[in-house]
Amino acid sequence: MTRLPAKTLGAAAGGGLMEIRRAESDGDFTAYVEVWNAITPSEPITVAETKRRLARQPWRLYLVVEEDGRIVGSGFAGRSDSAERAFLAVRVLIEWRRRGIGTALFEACRPHAVELGAATISGRIAEHDADSLRWAATRGFVEVGRDVELVRELGDEAPAAPLDGIEIKDLTAADHDAIYAVAVECWPDMATPEPMPAPPYDDWAQEELRGPVVFGAFDGEHLVGYAALVHTSREAGCARARVHRGRPQPPRPRDCDRTEADAAHLGR
Ligand SMILES: CC(C)(COP(=O)(O)OP(=O)(O)OC[C@H]1O[C@@H](n2cnc3c(N)ncnc32)[C@H](O)[C@@H]1OP(=O)(O)O)[C@@H](O)C(=O)NCCC(=O)NCCS
Repeated sequence: MTRLPAKTLGAAAGGGLMEIRRAESDGDFTAYVEVWNAITPSEPITVAETKRRLARQPWRLYLVVEEDGRIVGSGFAGRSDSAERAFLAVRVLIEWRRRGIGTALFEACRPHAVELGAATISGRIAEHDADSLRWAATRGFVEVGRDVELVRELGDEAPAAPLDGIEIKDLTAADHDAIYAVAVECWPDMATPEPMPAPPYDDWAQEELRGPVVFGAFDGEHLVGYAALVHTSREAGCARARVHRGRPQPPRPRDCDRTEADAAHLGR
């Protein structure tokens, strides 16, 4: 694991000193989450969730940058679902940009990605954020794909029409192995720029089964698909459906739909 010494960057515009360090204290994690949520409100995270992920996957690197007692940026480097690709997330509060902080965070994250055995490092940038896209391009990143986020207002929902030969049921802990088997079949079929095998069971279960409910589609005794609801923001009452579709043999599973990209939750 990378040993990251506290690192002084030099005098900031206001005359104070800036320092990059690993997030370790509760205060650092709180600030990390605040920076993330300020810049990435569509993918909110919590301190508890972030610490839980780090406890389970100690190879995750969470950095904060402090200037005169205030955390003004954050950095993350860790594994992604794609083999040999590390995930990077650098965030700098808007009023602190264009002072070299983003680049310093990237430079601090990069050796960690190399140590993880990654051949490439990838990140996600909002499509409308031309400055950040330019920043990444200047540092050697090339675009390999775009995610489309879809949102649907919920209101008076009509009951679903029954399907011929398929029964939808609530799933329980007893079904977890069967759900994972569907995930393992579906994951590689996702339209991602690089092959993406399913994550190990524990990682998958921690992310996919953390919501209030999982529904399964049964063809007789066979589980052929599932949908898991995951809270994304308690305050806003948002939830995200993660849908997988698979078929037992024969026929071979043809495709699989998901409503969000995997890199997103791995990078938080
Ligand atoms: C991308 C992001 C991290 C950059 O942060 P930043 O702190 O502004 O980054 P830097 O200051 O290192 O670089 C920004 C520009 O300011 C320039 N700069 C650095 N110090 C400067 C200074 N003292 N005066 C003027 N310009 C300066 C840099 O050269 C750079 O320009 P360049 O890209 O043409 O080389 C930030 O915009 C951000 O948080 N974006 C949203 C999240 C995101 O998309 N992250 C990237 C993908 S993970």
